[in-house]
Amino acid sequence: MLMADVIRAKRDGESLEPAVIEEVIREYTDGTVPDYQMAALLMAVYLNGLDQRELPAWAGAMLHSGDVLDLSHVPGVKVDKHSTGGVGDKISIPLAPLAAACGVLVPMISGRGLGHTGGTLDKLESIPGFRTDLSVDRFVRGVTEVGACLIGQTDSLAPADRKIYALRDVTATVASIPLIAASIMSKKLAEGISSLVLDVKVGSGAFMKTTDQARELARTLVTIGEGNGVRTTALLTDMNQPIGCAVGNALEIRESIDVLRGEGPLDTTTLTVALGGVLLWLGEAASDPSDGETRIKEAMASGAGLEKFREMVAFQGGDPAVADNPDLLPAADSRMEFASPSAGFVTAVDTEKVGMAGVLLGGGRARKEDDIDPAVGFEVHARLGDEVDKGDPLVTIHYNDDARLARAQALLSSAWTLGDERPETAPLIRELITVQT
Ligand code: URA
Repeated sequence: MLMADVIRAKRDGESLEPAVIEEVIREYTDGTVPDYQMAALLMAVYLNGLDQRELPAWAGAMLHSGDVLDLSHVPGVKVDKHSTGGVGDKISIPLAPLAAACGVLVPMISGRGLGHTGGTLDKLESIPGFRTDLSVDRFVRGVTEVGACLIGQTDSLAPADRKIYALRDVTATVASIPLIAASIMSKKLAEGISSLVLDVKVGSGAFMKTTDQARELARTLVTIGEGNGVRTTALLTDMNQPIGCAVGNALEIRESIDVLRGEGPLDTTTLTVALGGVLLWLGEAASDPSDGETRIKEAMASGAGLEKFREMVAFQGGDPAVADNPDLLPAADSRMEFASPSAGFVTAVDTEKVGMAGVLLGGGRARKEDDIDPAVGFEVHARLGDEVDKGDPLVTIHYNDDARLARAQALLSSAWTLGDERPETAPLIRELITVQT
């Protein structure tokens, strides 16, 4: 195989043979194909898509780039939840322990920040000592003993996605339906789960900006899941403003703890409960999604979810005391309020800009080898439909570096749009997509 020929073929809109796709993914994973050629191919896929033969081959090659876990010896129903990526999207962090507290097992392989969106692994690693690079044996023990364990791709689980994900993050090739679908499903199918709920985000902070695109992504994901024997359901949910008030790794852990205590922001709690309800229903731990929601709320109210979180953090090497004292999390040296330049109703939030401002602040990566600063981020005060006066804070910025602050401020200055009338806001949960829809 000549990689330049493969790139040229895809660039010119030709369909790649499944065997060629398998070879490319294998050779990129083992280092034979260099980053620059894979980056060019990813851009060609971004521009021309993958057809119905190419997509299963691409997703399958990513899945089989490593081991597929066999958890059949672990008693219990194994379920998972995954989001297509958003800003302030910390839902997996409270949801995994809540679901585990309700009796299902959650073997979750998560991602890092991607483009303007944050990543569950980066957030969890802001907990002092928390490890997401566990061996597969330890991961399985975590699932068995605690009920929930969250790790990243290892060299043995979906390693192709780990490399491709990092490359897409810095080559403007993220927002592609087939690449997102293959990335998510290669990780999820490697987990040995029987059911999966997907949170497909739509709006200004999502990779899918329109409902039609999000629906297409949701259907693609559900089809890949069901085609591989995993009961898969997707919720289309609104991403036209950050989820909750916290954006930034350690700040989002703080807010996740609030959700576990039943004291989280309404939207964050609503999403956790809705996704958890579907998850428990799919995992046969509830008779329907609404029964599942009741059980998740009970696990919040009783403290059982928070206790599971403590256990999960301790098992993964972190300090479980953060659950009771979030001040143990890293905090930025400085804060400043970013004031509204005028008065009016918040009619739009360019959530992608808010996410990118977080990256510029140091909370995400501009190059794949970059370290991130866990402490920086935003507390969002002005939400869609809110009325603000001139000078009211739109966000509080937590920062450690003045030059980075200036770059983040420049982006934030055009992220909020104010108008004279209170806008209609889209519902938080838009649609439920199953294999039949
Ligand atoms: N989440 C993933 O795991 N992969 C993507 O490509 C996008 C979101």
